[in-house]
Order: sequence, then C-alpha cells, then structure tokens
Amino acid sequence: MAFEFDVEAHKEEIEEFKKVVRRHKKSRNGILPVLQDAQNRFGYIPEAIVDLMAYEMELFSSYIYEVATFYSQFTFIPKGKIRISVCTGTACYVKGANEIMNEFCHLLNLKPGETGSDGNYSIQGVRCIGACGLAPVVVINNDIHGNVKASEVEALLKEYPVEEVKA
Ligand code: FES
Repeated sequence: MAFEFDVEAHKEEIEEFKKVVRRHKKSRNGILPVLQDAQNRFGYIPEAIVDLMAYEMELFSSYIYEVATFYSQFTFIPKGKIRISVCTGTACYVKGANEIMNEFCHLLNLKPGETGSDGNYSIQGVRCIGACGLAPVVVINNDIHGNVKASEVEALLKEYPVEEVKA
C-alpha cells in the first residue's frame, strides 16, 4: 500500500535535513550519512526525500534507491507503532525463527517487511543481533525477547496492545 508523507507537517525537519545534505553533497560517500540521517529523522526514507536528495546532490533518484536497497537498515515504508523484528540469523533459524515469523504474520495478517495499513504493527526479519545465546530472538520496539516459541507469540503480542505502546 502507498504511504503518504506529509511534507508540510515535516517542514522544519526537512529544512534541518537539507543542511545535512548540503554538508555531505560534495563527499564521495556522502550519500550514506545522508540516507542514515533521513532514516533516523523520518523513521524511513520517503519518496519525497529521495527526490530532494537527488535534486540537491545532483544524482539520479534511481541511484539513491540502488544504494539504499543494498543496505538492510534503510526502508522505504514507515514502521508501525509496534515494530517487530524476528532474528533470522543461523542460530535463531535452526531454533525455529521461521515458525515464529509465520505465527506473527498469521496473527497480524502481514508479510515479512510489511506495515499494517493502520500503521499499528510492522514486522521484519533481521540478521543476527548478537544475542545468539538467547536464540530464537524477537525484538519488539526496544525489548529483546529470548527463547521465544511459536506457541508463545500470541501471548507476546498481547503484551503490546496498540493503546499502550512501549517506547
Ligand atoms: S542468530 Fe539470532 S541473535 Fe544471533
């Protein structure tokens, strides 16, 4: 689905972002810190921001997309209020990460990498987060949950009702 980025509502942030773009535009690898700033600032990289980068940095938008899609930390869709990351690294994979992912997707009616149209939940697979001793691992917002079982996913989701979002 398409997500609308409200340029007017982000006017001040965009002005700050332009300063970052101008600071890095001449640097050979300047595109990465600019993308990183956009991701941190807006939570994702909206199309309007790619167009702005292209204009200011004198690059093709297609090139910016090409660079951004190479790095898994950049996303073109906004994350949900509740952000679920299922580690799909080797240790988690062999201990059932796929079943956990399937259960979340089934309960939320989402596919990996998607955000619900209501903006409440998003789910993605991520590479090893360095907590293999706790495999399989799920991160919800900033909370790490270890030794998760697919049968526990429903109860885990209930800990994150949309009305009471943990930061
Ligand atoms: S493989 Fe999942 S935390 Fe390392």
